[in-house]
Amino acid sequence: QSHSIKSLLNGQVDTGQTVEIKGWIRTTRDAKGFSFLVVHDGSCFDGIQVVADESLPNYSTEVIKLFTGCSVIVTGELTESGGKGQNLEIKADKVTVVGWVENPDSYPVQPKRHTMEFLREVAHLRPRTNTFSAMMRVRNTMAQAVHQYFNQRGYLWLHTPIITASDCEGAGDLFRVSNLDLLNLPKTDKGDIDFSEDFFGKETYLTVSGQLNAETYACALSKVYTFGPTFRAENSHTQRHLAEFWMIEPEVAFADLNDMAALAEDFLKYLVKQVLDNNADDMQFFNQFVDKGCVQRLETLLDDKFEQVNYADALKILEKANVKFEYPVKWGLDLQTEHERYLTEKHFKKPIVVKNYPEEIKPFYMRLNDDKKTVAAMDVLVPGVGEIMGGSQREERLEYLLNRMKAHNLDEAEYKWYTDLRRYGTVPHSGFGAGFERLISYVTGLSNVRDVIPFPRTPGNIKF
Ligand code: 4AD
Ligand code: MG
Repeated sequence: QSHSIKSLLNGQVDTGQTVEIKGWIRTTRDAKGFSFLVVHDGSCFDGIQVVADESLPNYSTEVIKLFTGCSVIVTGELTESGGKGQNLEIKADKVTVVGWVENPDSYPVQPKRHTMEFLREVAHLRPRTNTFSAMMRVRNTMAQAVHQYFNQRGYLWLHTPIITASDCEGAGDLFRVSNLDLLNLPKTDKGDIDFSEDFFGKETYLTVSGQLNAETYACALSKVYTFGPTFRAENSHTQRHLAEFWMIEPEVAFADLNDMAALAEDFLKYLVKQVLDNNADDMQFFNQFVDKGCVQRLETLLDDKFEQVNYADALKILEKANVKFEYPVKWGLDLQTEHERYLTEKHFKKPIVVKNYPEEIKPFYMRLNDDKKTVAAMDVLVPGVGEIMGGSQREERLEYLLNRMKAHNLDEAEYKWYTDLRRYGTVPHSGFGAGFERLISYVTGLSNVRDVIPFPRTPGNIKF
């Protein structure tokens, strides 16, 4: 029976016991008659030091030839370590080499600092680095925490379709889905394949949001959330856009925009608390090497009350700011990342919720406010990232919804199922979407979302 390195370092096994570990060598060091091997298995931030001496039968034939990256099984006695900083180690009785490294000099992840750009080129091996194994453990804690949070509060996890015929956000950044058989179809006059009937006779796309489907379930089961992959054919090369990302979308009946602002704040704080409680070592690493002071920033967040500000007032703050922005600040234009970051980093110095955006820059489903100029929309902005969540109160009044659909050139017949919710027992309801990678980026301080998802999908990035 083998042990996780975490269980050993946590003191779950008494010293003096014989233990077995399985993992990959991170570093080796040889002294006269001894080899010191640090072995990692991903269960926790640290590896454990193995002391192998020349009495091992394969010492000179194998052990001294071990190198970073080799996989091993080690059995031996768990002992207090004499070495500085290490309090436990294994005195090996047996070291079995499971997998050699073909050519040690060619092993891509040497025990030294590599650039993030380089590590993206070796996405299959980067989980063996401190940064990516720590990121992955934090990502896992946050994913589990998402489900715990909503489950504890009576939300049902809803699986919404990946293949869809609607463009929820109306931004037109859709990936087409087609049936391969289409490739055998006759060509059009111009010689192109006619894709207009891709999915068994219907144009289809990969989903940009599960929201419209989530609304139908919220308007029957009261509280639901989605958590799944989401796709956007945005040809953007920024630190915060992926073509495939994970989104969490709670949707709540009998709830308004203020309820969503409160839910978003509570939810974000819950995730942060779970990470601080469960990933102290991983966060200590980020704090020291990636984003100095990030632990302090997260601890402060837990005590901060998020600031709420109307879009109109945010514009006033930006107009008064003594900063030359690249993009104009004007009523009817969306806030750009530089504006968002100014507001949250320089002005308020904490997370903020910007509310009530002009109707013309927001999707068709948002509820028109009494001023008839703005909609009940909100964006949650955080220092370091900018927009991390976006949501709204939905238009529950049939007439208003039909008007907005007309203005957005949407075909009423195609959305009959959606407007039906307003015909049969309509209720005020609201929800938001949180970008999972942006949440992880915020928590870890890893500023590029390509570095917080195992296999990033961005323009030109599809190798792995
Ligand atoms: O603001 P968005 O587009 O809102 C919606 O999709 C709504 N239907 C959500 C809802 O009300 N249920 O996206 C929500 C969040 C953004 O705030 C951002 O964090 C993230 O999803 N996001 C992305 N993350 C990574 N890469 C991209 N290309 C993203 N686009 C949006
Ligand atoms: Mg948005």
